[in-house]
Amino acid sequence: MINAKTQLCCIIGNPVEHSLSPQMHNAAFAQTKSDFCFMAFKIINLARAIESLKMFNCRCIVVTIPYKQEVIKYIDKVDETAKKIGAVNCIINNNGYLTGTNTDCYGALQSLEEQTKLKNKKVAILGAGGAARAIIYGLKLKKANVFLFNRTLSNAKKLAEEFNLTRPYSLNEQINLKNMDIIINATSVGMEPNQDQSPVAEENIHQDQLVFDIVYTPHKTQLLKIAKARGAKIVYGYKMVLYGGIKIFELTTNKQAPISIMDKTLLKNLN
Ligand code: ATR
Repeated sequence: MINAKTQLCCIIGNPVEHSLSPQMHNAAFAQTKSDFCFMAFKIINLARAIESLKMFNCRCIVVTIPYKQEVIKYIDKVDETAKKIGAVNCIINNNGYLTGTNTDCYGALQSLEEQTKLKNKKVAILGAGGAARAIIYGLKLKKANVFLFNRTLSNAKKLAEEFNLTRPYSLNEQINLKNMDIIINATSVGMEPNQDQSPVAEENIHQDQLVFDIVYTPHKTQLLKIAKARGAKIVYGYKMVLYGGIKIFELTTNKQAPISIMDKTLLKNLN
């Protein structure tokens, strides 16, 4: 039960109303009898929000759109992973000292590694935004061969140069996806309210592939429906939220995360 010693944790962003982090973390805190509570705050002034949360001794601040880059200038330390990715999505407060990390990368890698090894696999990333960056960084660490596909080629070229990738493809050249072992959608295509769209045409997916969609609303995206129908293995987007959340829980509490209750809570709130 919330009491006078309970420490605050939160997610900040704008919009933030769709977040499932409060349900997932509060269920985990209850299960492990950890004296924390988790709230969501829609904010418009990031500097003042961070200052206030520090004043209230908030233990963990999860950061979402559009503040993952900007928040870097308001914290004391950025760890190596977040530095390389260029974005912070989780801040841990140790007696007023704020350390930023990035758990998106860990979340994506764990989701994939549950199903397959990544070393030497040919992996297509669709998208060249923040989510794509985090995943590419992780895949390179795992020694996968990464190929970029994006609607706007100039955006993909910048990213490809930075991460030393081969020439990126336009999404119109997606016939090349047939040669890939793993396809990851890191664009927003297929997200509600455009749930009828898929970034990949049916004929470019086959049964020897693994398809991961980081879009998790809806739970069963059009891309994943097509992939399943074509006989491919699939990974649901909510897994990235789950594994990222597990890391956040562990950094916050220094306890092992209760994975099963976090998984069930997410699924219950998605369905
Ligand atoms: P995030 O931080 O979630 O990755 P982002 O940085 O805005 O979000 O990146 C969104 C990605 O989705 C981009 O790669 C974008 O492609 P462009 O570089 O061409 O803008 C991609 N995207 C968004 N809407 C799209 C659409 N309708 N069709 C194809 N790609 C789309």
